[in-house]
Amino acid sequence: MRPIRLFFERFSEQYFPDCFKEYAELLTWDSYWHTILDSSNPPFWKWFVGGRLNACYNCVDRHLATRHNEAALIWVPEPEGETTQAITYQELYQQVNEFAAVLREFCGVETGDRVTFHLPMVPQLPVAMLACARLGAIHSEVFGGFSGAACGDRAADATSHVLVTMDGYYRNGQLVDHKAKADEAVATAHERGHEIDKVLVWRRHPGSYGSQSPMVEGRDFFVDELLAEQRGKVVDPVSMPAEAPLFLMYTSGTTARPKGCQHSTGGYLAYVAGTSKYYQDIHPDDTYWCCADIGWITGHSYIVYGPLALGTTSVMYEGAPAYPDPGRVWRIAERLGVSIFHTAPTTIRMLRKLGPDEPGKYHYRFKHMTTVGEPIEPEVWRWYYETAGKREAAIVDTWWQTENGGFLGSTLPALQPMKPGSCGPGVLGIYPVIYDEDGNTVEAGSGQAGNICIRNPWPGIFQTIWGQPERFVETYYQKYCRDPESKDWHDWPYFAGDGAVQAADGYFRILGRVDDVINVAGHRLGTKELESASLTVEEIAEAAAVPVVDELRGRAVEMYVSLKPGLKPSKDIEDRVAQAIDREIGKIARPKNVWVVTDMPKTRSGKIMRRVIASISNFGDVGDVSTLANPEIVDDIRHHIQSDK
Ligand code: WTA
Repeated sequence: MRPIRLFFERFSEQYFPDCFKEYAELLTWDSYWHTILDSSNPPFWKWFVGGRLNACYNCVDRHLATRHNEAALIWVPEPEGETTQAITYQELYQQVNEFAAVLREFCGVETGDRVTFHLPMVPQLPVAMLACARLGAIHSEVFGGFSGAACGDRAADATSHVLVTMDGYYRNGQLVDHKAKADEAVATAHERGHEIDKVLVWRRHPGSYGSQSPMVEGRDFFVDELLAEQRGKVVDPVSMPAEAPLFLMYTSGTTARPKGCQHSTGGYLAYVAGTSKYYQDIHPDDTYWCCADIGWITGHSYIVYGPLALGTTSVMYEGAPAYPDPGRVWRIAERLGVSIFHTAPTTIRMLRKLGPDEPGKYHYRFKHMTTVGEPIEPEVWRWYYETAGKREAAIVDTWWQTENGGFLGSTLPALQPMKPGSCGPGVLGIYPVIYDEDGNTVEAGSGQAGNICIRNPWPGIFQTIWGQPERFVETYYQKYCRDPESKDWHDWPYFAGDGAVQAADGYFRILGRVDDVINVAGHRLGTKELESASLTVEEIAEAAAVPVVDELRGRAVEMYVSLKPGLKPSKDIEDRVAQAIDREIGKIARPKNVWVVTDMPKTRSGKIMRRVIASISNFGDVGDVSTLANPEIVDDIRHHIQSDK
């Protein structure tokens, strides 16, 4: 065995990019790569070029010899009366093969085709992901809480002809009718000029249909009936080039059109396997629980691909963390013997608020706990460490993004000191830097905030925005590119879109988004998406979405809208704006308040000053407003919201 510190030194900058061989060697390759990093066409990096592998084989087949009877997934349904399901690697193998056969034989899905899922937290979701991976088809899961319209939009963007959904699922004690959203998705895609031909519907309770939405003849099919024809089928995993896309994950940006982040097979899988091993500290004998949704990148990387690539047991929970009471999470941990727990600050804040003493009532022992998605406040961190972790677990804060595949900033558990509120230094093989607006390096310990960037490419970085390569270059690389003609990766730092401060010890504190994205409860929402949704209400002339501080969710959205001439404000209009956001994006985006204002603060060129509105909303100092075209509106708005709040 190599001494652990010596091993980690192999990731110091002088060994880049060869250090990432350590991650790639965690996988089983059909043929080895000849070039570890091809950076000849910046910023379209290629990792492990010449290598071939199959992601499903790596997450399932290769574990059969030693772990076929061990649980790959443990699924906890929300209703406590329903039995928890353990799915062994052998069973997972069989289910994935049969569903891959349905996709290929019945739907005609071929290597490279996109398949959209709109699935909740059920084991059918990882089965469907792995079935696509087996075929070399590209999956695109849309978070179950998103609306049908948002799903249809994304399916049209990806030109998926197959949509996989479920009749219903449990959330907060309710059986949610989910299939209805598929009908909306098909209709929205049609409006965008794209046809979804087949809708595959899993049934939450086998044999009974839990949705009010009628099955459409020739379009909608029950998956259990299709599976009956594929019993016992085995589909050979397709050997894919390392650079073949594995999946798309849509996220919000500065325009209303969402970005389909395209992740690779070899680089991505190597990166999530490596970071799961060293940062989540996962060993095959662990029972690991990432309490997040697979509909987000966290779930893709750290519920499905990373843990299964390492052959561990990954727990999935269907429902709301505090249902039916705030002890639920800790009860699950006790019953299943969870050893590693991963979740978002939003969940921690909620569990702390609703049941501050609940962890003490349950006999679980975590060796390790991690958080992701938002900055964690030091007092929340302390509760996580002292009460939830019982002072026994190492706490690791992980900073990264949908675009990155895996962690960027974090600490090695038990090896690097924990520091509440800071994510830590760059992770192995990642060299972050803070630049000011002019591209000068902001020194560690200067106390000055700036834009956090990554100086080097890494295997988990996304390959492009699906169908929008110019937007990819422009959004992430243009800002700090030193020379657009340069073929040297040193000239192409990655711009993350987050503000940060680096302390003298090298640890980074992430301050939040510097672009038009609002992070609500760890979910990224684009201000443009929210504004476009508001503008679907006929009376609305202009709309601005701003973040406000929220005790539980970290940030919440407030909408400011102005009406077309001659119209009067009303409660009804406010309600319809909120409903439009539900319909176009989903309930997670529902604004905390909708304010109907007479006008927006604007620059002389007519640009809405969201920054000024956000300051008013948060009762902050608006700064100098003398350059506004209409400075008097500031007091108007302030008066309006103060009289109401
Ligand atoms: C924020 C989630 C502080 C950040 C994996 C980033 C964080 C955005 C942290 C990405 C953290 C994520 N501390 N802020 N540990 N992790 N963020 O794409 O603003 O859903 O840009 O990926 O969340 O959100 P996304």
